Amino acid sequence: MSDYQDLVTPEGVLALLKGRRSIRRYKPDPVPEALLRQVLEAGQWAPSASNRQPWHFIVVRDPAVRKAVSEHAAFFFLKWAHVNEAPVLIVLCGEAGGRIYQRFLHEDVGLAGSQMMLQAAALGLGTCWIGGLDPLAIGAVLKLPSAIEVVGLLTLGFPDEDPPPPSRKPLSQVVHYDVYGNQEPRSKGEAGIVVTGPLGVLLRKLRIRWRG
Ligand SMILES: Cc1cc2nc3c(=O)[nH]c(=O)nc-3n(C[C@H](O)[C@H](O)[C@H](O)COP(=O)(O)O)c2cc1C
Repeated sequence: MSDYQDLVTPEGVLALLKGRRSIRRYKPDPVPEALLRQVLEAGQWAPSASNRQPWHFIVVRDPAVRKAVSEHAAFFFLKWAHVNEAPVLIVLCGEAGGRIYQRFLHEDVGLAGSQMMLQAAALGLGTCWIGGLDPLAIGAVLKLPSAIEVVGLLTLGFPDEDPPPPSRKPLSQVVHYDVYGNQEPRSKGEAGIVVTGPLGVLLRKLRIRWRG
């Protein structure tokens, strides 16, 4: 039994998952180093394809750099006010690998970001994932090497609002059993990368069972 099972309850985890909110108003108070460290560790321990951990987390606290980043955190005519307001920004970056790993870069970095948001919520901190941004311009501000790209950024700080939960689609609308459209559970389905054509046929014939 893993040691976390003594520390968390399934109900507690689900309450955290449901209770985390995107926070768009922040107090100016700085985030204590120990809390920031826990948030970063939560990202460090995310799963990733082949455990490649292709992420870099750029912690931006310097007011001048924060301001420069926030200038490019925009969507058409909207500049996100909370990006300029949050005392910490964590810019979530991914390092390019070969073609296969490139395919998983956004999933890997997204999972790290998701874990950070949840740990932050558990610590009483607020976050908001910002996808509406100019990744190239922010990459230039942060002096990213060419192999590293901005995937998104998180605002981080003590919340100055307690927004109501935005609704979620009912499970009946998004869960399908075995094949699309089936509402009743039957058996486990199969998932994975789908390679089509003659190569796909050959790959399926050559498949062996493995737990890498
Ligand atoms: C990939 C992604 C991109 C997002 N981009 C933005 C954004 O640019 N600005 C913003 O204010 N919120 C952004 N959000 C936050 C969503 O609006 C928010 O998660 C959603 O409305 C659900 O609310 P909740 O996080 O409180 O459950 C983004 C979230 C995700 C996952």
